[in-house]
Amino acid sequence: MTEQFSKKNQGWSGRFSEPVSALVQRYTGSVFFDQRLALFDIEGSLAHAEMLAHVGLISAKDLQGIQGGLNQIRQEIESGQFQWSLDLEDVHLNIEKRLTDLIGDAGKRLHTARSRNDQVATDIRLWVRHTIDEIHQALTALKTALLDQAERHADTIMPGFTHLQVAQPVTLGHHLLAYVEMLSRDESRLADCRARANVLPLGAAALAGTSYPIDRERVARTLGFDGVCQNSLDAVSDRDFAIEFTACCALIMTHISRLSEELILWMTPRIGFIDLADRFCTGSSIMPQKKNPDVPELARGKSGRVYGHLMALLTLMKGQPLAYNKDNQEDKEPLFDAADTVLDTLRVFAEMMAGIQVKDQAMRSAAFEGYSTATDLADYLVKKGLPFRDAHEAVALAVKAGIAQQKDLSELSLEALQAFSPLIGPDVHEVLKVEGSVAARDHVGGTAPSQVRAQIRRHRAKRD
Ligand code: ARG
Repeated sequence: MTEQFSKKNQGWSGRFSEPVSALVQRYTGSVFFDQRLALFDIEGSLAHAEMLAHVGLISAKDLQGIQGGLNQIRQEIESGQFQWSLDLEDVHLNIEKRLTDLIGDAGKRLHTARSRNDQVATDIRLWVRHTIDEIHQALTALKTALLDQAERHADTIMPGFTHLQVAQPVTLGHHLLAYVEMLSRDESRLADCRARANVLPLGAAALAGTSYPIDRERVARTLGFDGVCQNSLDAVSDRDFAIEFTACCALIMTHISRLSEELILWMTPRIGFIDLADRFCTGSSIMPQKKNPDVPELARGKSGRVYGHLMALLTLMKGQPLAYNKDNQEDKEPLFDAADTVLDTLRVFAEMMAGIQVKDQAMRSAAFEGYSTATDLADYLVKKGLPFRDAHEAVALAVKAGIAQQKDLSELSLEALQAFSPLIGPDVHEVLKVEGSVAARDHVGGTAPSQVRAQIRRHRAKRD
């Protein structure tokens, strides 16, 4: 029994007198999800081994053996040949066991001055760093699609809304650039998160550091970390970076979900501002006429899933005493799923946004509904000397009259308008045009087409 047991659990079985039950093995094992960390685990092990040889803790020959073995294991993993085993609990023990099978004692020396606690913390940081870079690229691709559409529609008039009521005319380009701003903040938030994640836990060992004369800075340099974690207890137990990363993912999904909601509204035939390409929609099995915006609907739904992962990670950490606890193994699935969801969503949105078909006329006529140039008329009166509050009141009365006659302000005659203020002159009709309204908002951050084009240039210059 003892022999069979020690064969099963290579990493730590010596002190136990009975094996874990199959149920406990499945309950405590993580290999089916943490094998995703394998290539980062190998990268970390190669850097650790190189340092061990450099400071004389293992021989040059052992290092060579470890390097050869780990490179072979990497190929086995990449080609799908590697045999993962639940008997070996997690990604770390699976790889170490295979290394030892391949190269013998040198493989057993790799774990000198290291614990799985600092090893897994290192792997996750490497994974987060890599994934941030992938998400960054996906954000850039989506921003590019939005910038291209914004350029195409720098002059396209649409109603701007507050309270989902028509408020003032804006340009579609300006509207899309609002999302580019959100995604730019997402990029910079991820960059901040990356900087804090990019420090090396290795050397903390199980929790207290190690009595071997290791060189942590060397390992940090090899792995491209900006420095080393300064407290071993914190190094093995900190998952702030995982929470921050998932918070970044959650906020990206918030932005995508807001955009989704608009696309869904814009596509309903009652609004009819856009059409999504067929390949992003599905039909109904019963209603032959239906074309449903499934992709934005799903993205709106998936945002909840990512928020859930953020809550899971916060809760995972809140009651943990120092230092490492097995609870931490639960960090991986939420992290992985948050990243997968965000990456898939961003990639599909980059394609979808590049292909949206805009119905310019429908947007433009909607901008007339709801007296969207009323503020322009008030501003006109203010520029002629009327205090703003009085101007507001005069225009409110004009709107009331318009509603009664079912006419837009621009359709009221000059004489009819002059009844509300003698300051109104023949130049008023220019002001009441939606084009005049957007063009007048010609300052940084305003909706004027010239400003939209300037913003597009600014975003593109930052990116190149
Ligand atoms: N699979 C573990 C995890 O993901 C690795 C570290 C295990 N350490 C330990 N002392 N049991 O957290």
